[in-house]
Amino acid sequence: MIHILDILKKIALFEGLEDSDLAKVAQVTKERFCPKGTILFREGDIGDAFYLIKEGQVEVLKKDGGAEKVVKTISHTDKDNFFGEMSLVGGAPRNATLRTSTDATFLVISKTDFDMMLRLNSFIALRIMTALSSRFRAATPEAAQEVKLGKLVVIFSPKSGAGKSIFAANLASGLAKLAKAKTLLVDLDLQFGDLAFMLGLQPKRTIADLVENPTDKLEVFKEYLVDHKAGFAVLAAPKKPEQSEMINSSHLRAFVELARKHYDYVILDTHSLFQDLTINAMDMADAIYLLMLPTLNHIKSMHQCLKVMENLKYPPDKIKLILNRDGSQHARSREEIEGGMKRKVDFTLKDSWPQIAALIDTQKTVFEQDSSSEYTANMVAIMEKLTGQTFAKEGKKGWLSSLFG
Ligand SMILES: Nc1ncnc2c1ncn2[C@@H]1O[C@H](COP(=O)(O)OP(=O)(O)O)[C@@H](O)[C@H]1O
Ligand SMILES: [Mg+2]
Repeated sequence: MIHILDILKKIALFEGLEDSDLAKVAQVTKERFCPKGTILFREGDIGDAFYLIKEGQVEVLKKDGGAEKVVKTISHTDKDNFFGEMSLVGGAPRNATLRTSTDATFLVISKTDFDMMLRLNSFIALRIMTALSSRFRAATPEAAQEVKLGKLVVIFSPKSGAGKSIFAANLASGLAKLAKAKTLLVDLDLQFGDLAFMLGLQPKRTIADLVENPTDKLEVFKEYLVDHKAGFAVLAAPKKPEQSEMINSSHLRAFVELARKHYDYVILDTHSLFQDLTINAMDMADAIYLLMLPTLNHIKSMHQCLKVMENLKYPPDKIKLILNRDGSQHARSREEIEGGMKRKVDFTLKDSWPQIAALIDTQKTVFEQDSSSEYTANMVAIMEKLTGQTFAKEGKKGWLSSLFG
């Protein structure tokens, strides 16, 4: 008898997986018997499962004018006796109809079961994404992008409380106000995200409503956003934590793709887990900002986080390490942290306790008031690197006056 692990090993999608991972994939693989003449799926259907022929034969049909014609048959003994692997990671429509031409048995992995397995095994997601993204990088020539896309910025930290959300909100506000850029801020902290609240916004709709009615039209997409008076838009986290489960990485990929055609910057605030969704976000991103506090537990977690991220083989300058709350009480110094992690910190954000606390109380960003704090200046420096523009001129003509002058 052929072992299921040996079968799965041959599928390119699973090439980065270890045997223990494959065993988990095997657990969500089901055997299904289909009598002769069964239609497995039709051309144009959205792919929702992977099929491998264990026994029997299928016909591949394609539309030709009005009628469907058999273009080939595939039997279990053929080398390529499986189809739809990519539908497991966010499927394009099926490019043909499949019908059994004998009684047949399949090994089937449904996208729903696969997603569930990935949710519980984020490192399998990570390894699949790693293998996939290197394949894509090899396959897509640069010239394939004719439209100029907005920059995707992902904000992540292995620990919560690192200051991601405050940073994300201020970044969006600063890009809108100083760079006059069309900016979208997305709250991907799906269970307890509070960006909208932090910004004093009352969204009528959230990301959960959007994925219930996916759209590829900008005007419709905008109905799910809430506008901030500083000039950026927000896609809010679901109102109830349990709605977080509605949102998967194909939803994310679809709306990010749409948003990047219209916004100069799309900023994704995340929660502190390596998970299918966050990894997909990082993979698509132009820049990843990793935030940490100057404390031992953050240093340790960030060190582990960076090790895992090495496997993703991103270009080195895609990842920026930000040391937040620099100079706070009991903080480790920047030099000590860099020495311990054997990596340079790219940016620091000064600890500005009373100011940041006041901002949260008044639901404002630093760019909405006449603030000349070090935190604001640090934010400006980060934004200058990101945009390639200069905002911080010496003296009165600097970014302060462009805001309030
Ligand atoms: N530079 C800073 N100075 C002072 N307080 C900060 C700073 N950055 C973040 N904080 C505080 O840290 C807390 C956590 O910030 P938040 O953005 O919600 O973290 P995360 O989104 O990473 O969980 C907030 O209450 C905020 O007041
Ligand atoms: Mg947060």
